[in-house]
Amino acid sequence: MREIIMNPELHKFGTFKEFAEEFGLGEGDLLLTTKPVYDGVIKGALAGGEQCIVQEDFGKGEPTEEMIEKIFAAVDYDSYKRVIAVGGGTIMDIGKLLVLKRPSSVNDLFFGREPIVREKKLIAIPTTCGTGSEVTKTSVAIVSDGQGGTTKLGLLDEDLIADAACLIPEFLENLPHRPFAESLIDALIHAVESYLSPSKATMTSDLFGEGAIRTITKALKAMQDGVDIKHEYADELLTAACYAGLAFLQAGCGIIHGVSYPMSGKYFVTHGAANYVFFEETMKMYNDTDPEGKISSVRRMITDAFVDGPATAEDDAKAFDTLFAAITQLLPPKKMHEYGVTEEDVTLFTESVFQNQMRLVDNAYIKMTPELVRRLYEAVL
Ligand SMILES: [Fe+2]
Repeated sequence: MREIIMNPELHKFGTFKEFAEEFGLGEGDLLLTTKPVYDGVIKGALAGGEQCIVQEDFGKGEPTEEMIEKIFAAVDYDSYKRVIAVGGGTIMDIGKLLVLKRPSSVNDLFFGREPIVREKKLIAIPTTCGTGSEVTKTSVAIVSDGQGGTTKLGLLDEDLIADAACLIPEFLENLPHRPFAESLIDALIHAVESYLSPSKATMTSDLFGEGAIRTITKALKAMQDGVDIKHEYADELLTAACYAGLAFLQAGCGIIHGVSYPMSGKYFVTHGAANYVFFEETMKMYNDTDPEGKISSVRRMITDAFVDGPATAEDDAKAFDTLFAAITQLLPPKKMHEYGVTEEDVTLFTESVFQNQMRLVDNAYIKMTPELVRRLYEAVL
């Protein structure tokens, strides 16, 4: 089994200004970011000569086909040699597309009707502590499904991997609570899904996955003890999210991402929030079906973080209850209907998962049948 190739190069900086100086930002660089990040941090740190665009000028929320087409139309392909993507998942997803040879349409690219050809350099700088997208080979977008609706699809290719990923804890300080919490939960899901991958997990993905799970659970315990983790644990959590990204770069995500995509695609639910809907129920299903498999190690990591002294059998049995009590404290969970999902959607979503997300279905800890996926949707409706 091929282990992780350490790609992209990883860098850490105290501030964005330090990064800009080290990487010699200027002419030929295209910066893609969000307005709050641009106004709050980036604007004051640039020397000049760079081209900057903010996502809000092209659309809000998750990346859509329309938003990406607008950006392509607004930015002359020959005007830049290097893309610096500074933001959360959406910015990373779009940044990865800006370094590719322009396709005749975004839809063609996502449905595989056009090849992926990398022509420019990419530097990825996460400003949330969750997506891990700075180190992955995935770009996700909401695209037209050709039947009058929209769906969320992931483009997967080695050519989407950034040349360098830079971790700068300064950005977490400016992040509001909700995106902080949603991205942190998403990072934990990446770590758990890749750790529990039945056939793709390797010793390196396990190492990074375990590192991320242990750091995030330790931080959640500290939060319960009254620590302001966004500030006190900024560096550790940014690192943990990157570890989780490295783990799923190798081992892939699983059914939680698979079932969340149709809901995100139809109701424009943000990525972390959509995954969160399914997290607890999926873990329960896994734990009930195969408690003695690798999930027993996840329970041990949880009890190590939350229980003082050696864990008892009772601690082990309620490990996931303990974890989700803490996560609920970080961010109260929501059901699907709170995002507008209806009973009819359950059938459509189940079909969509088995039509478009088989790589994620196959990477689930237990064998996921259409019946089980439907049961999962019904449990969180
Ligand atoms: Fe994710």
